[in-house]
Amino acid sequence: MATSDIKAEQLEYVLQPWVKQAGLDPLVVTKGEGVYFWDDKGEKYTDMSSLLINNNIGFNNQEVNQAIADQLSKFAFVSPVYAAESRSKLAKAIIDKLPDEFGKVFFANAGTEANESALKIARAYTGKQKVLSRYRSYHGATQGSGGLTGEPRKHFSEPLSPGFVKFFDPYLYHAPLKFSSEEEATNYYLKTLRDQIIYEGPEDIAAIWLETITGSNGVIIPPKGYLKGVRELCDEFNILMVCDEVMVGFYRTGKLFAFQNFDVVPDIITFAKGVTSGYVPLGGVVVQSKIADYYNDNPMPTGLTYSGHPLACAAGVASMKFYDDHKIGEHVQEVGKELKAALEDLKAKHPSVGDIRSIGLFAAVEFTRNPETHEPLVPYGRDPEGIMPKLVAELKKRHFMTYSHESVIFVAPPLIITSEELAAEFPKLDEVMSIADEIAAG
Ligand SMILES: Cc1ncc(COP(=O)(O)O)c(C=O)c1O
Repeated sequence: MATSDIKAEQLEYVLQPWVKQAGLDPLVVTKGEGVYFWDDKGEKYTDMSSLLINNNIGFNNQEVNQAIADQLSKFAFVSPVYAAESRSKLAKAIIDKLPDEFGKVFFANAGTEANESALKIARAYTGKQKVLSRYRSYHGATQGSGGLTGEPRKHFSEPLSPGFVKFFDPYLYHAPLKFSSEEEATNYYLKTLRDQIIYEGPEDIAAIWLETITGSNGVIIPPKGYLKGVRELCDEFNILMVCDEVMVGFYRTGKLFAFQNFDVVPDIITFAKGVTSGYVPLGGVVVQSKIADYYNDNPMPTGLTYSGHPLACAAGVASMKFYDDHKIGEHVQEVGKELKAALEDLKAKHPSVGDIRSIGLFAAVEFTRNPETHEPLVPYGRDPEGIMPKLVAELKKRHFMTYSHESVIFVAPPLIITSEELAAEFPKLDEVMSIADEIAAG
């Protein structure tokens, strides 16, 4: 098919998620290799967002390709009632790397389904209905996961079924109070959360649901002691702690799961994206043994035809091996330091860069109109002049491919990126930050 037809047919026949369909202009991708991909005109782009923060191992990984082909040559699929080697191997590989408390994995097909499934698992296990989650979170697009979601995409799931209660994230760059330390902020946010638990009635609360690091709403890294404090509140009131690791799992932050940076152990982990880097869609729920054991004598409250699809699990097993063989966790920690340092240098140079938040290869550049007041470059939920799309378009002109949310631009390349490949991208950011400086200065 001629490449012009590919774009025309996509626009004519395919609905693209979350956006107005008029005026779309999708790039026709023809090839990918490592951290780069090419369009139909032969132009080469750097994937600086790991597509949707999922392309952790980069394009065209031969080991994962081969594992998928090997599985296909045996069988593509058998239903979850049969034992399949790749399925049990992947579950074991994940459990083996986790603290002893964890017991079993329920497989889903992506992040939304992982959270939707975990919601039913948590409610049936606790016999409680309410779930607390945060305003700046995204947990998925269906009714339950949309109910967990706190940011504007939740409105498309409304009216929500009863039982979803929201609280505010410790987003220190925009906190209503000036805190003198991270600990002071942590104490404040934990105190308000404690009050909210008491007012909601802990006997009705099944779980507190958190993106370990809030991802698509701006890489909001919890302040010191915050997650430990949430864990303590969960223990005090007999509430499950659920960490949504869909975006930050599989070494994005330098650890297999992001919670491992914060010295806490949740009761349930949800994952997707980096488990297969999208080579085949896969998601899942990891539960502590106490929860897995409960289901020895109680039926699982959920199920999916494709739970633990063998092809997807084969991609997952090969990905886990690739992460291990290439010491990706250590690599991310090393290159992540270079990313953070370079972004801090750029911030010092550009008044429109208000905040840099960065952990591993997961970074947000937040733009402001005023570095003193932290006034966002574009107001919450509105960007009538299209300022952020303009900045993303300027990056695209320079073949730096990423996306934005509110006043934030994400910098989150595939985890295999080398120091040299990364360094080549900073001058592009520098130029576009100068454009942002002009816009911010009015
Ligand atoms: C933290 C988090 N949870 C859940 C989801 C939903 O995952 P999916 O789009 O694979 O259904 C996402 C997607 O970006 C996410 O970032």
